[in-house]
Amino acid sequence: MIFPGQASFRGSFYEIAQLPNISLPQVAFVGRSNVGKSSMINKLLNRRNLAKTSKAPGKTRSINFYEIGGKYLFVDLPGYGYARLAASDRKAWKELIEYYFRQTRSLKGIIHLIDIRHGLQDSDRELINYIDQLGIKMIRVLTKSDKLNRKQQAAVAENIGRELDIDSRNLVIFSARDNTGVKELSRKIMELLES
Ligand code: GTP
Ligand code: MG
Repeated sequence: MIFPGQASFRGSFYEIAQLPNISLPQVAFVGRSNVGKSSMINKLLNRRNLAKTSKAPGKTRSINFYEIGGKYLFVDLPGYGYARLAASDRKAWKELIEYYFRQTRSLKGIIHLIDIRHGLQDSDRELINYIDQLGIKMIRVLTKSDKLNRKQQAAVAENIGRELDIDSRNLVIFSARDNTGVKELSRKIMELLES
């Protein structure tokens, strides 16, 4: 593991008024509900259960902070695109997340997770537009790559690359199950944190 020191939980926050302003350099993990955000954080930090994971989508409803070696922060954002969520909950999600993106000066970038089986969904496109407008850097990751073979993985990456007009080699292919892409992603995140 390339991240320094011990990782520790720094709290869960549900409302704008509660959000602490932590000035440590940080990255946030964003993506649809159930895409594998919490599993990714655990894998990167080599901890089994630091971030809570679940088979039931919509599990993480709060913003969760994890401090790494007193130096950096990983931020687990609640997932979007969960169909069964009430409109009022969706609005609350949006306000909380947008406040976080706008107000966090030490946010170095976001890690955008896309399920390799599903590709880009409209909710992902909305997020990408929003993040681009704010000028926040983004690392794009295709998750759960263990679910597809190499050829299928490459085809999805090609498609997404074409749609976003980026080189598909910039998409990180990742699996928390078989460790694909863990080193590559860790390196990219470290680069962001130190930028
Ligand atoms: P929410 O907090 O609900 O938005 O979900 P999340 O994005 O944090 O996803 P989480 O890490 O809780 O994982 C959701 C489900 O996907 C769990 O059942 C995980 O075991 C599974 N999962 C996560 N990563 C992988 C992976 O790389 N491969 C496979 N096959 N399953 C995965
Ligand atoms: Mg989660």
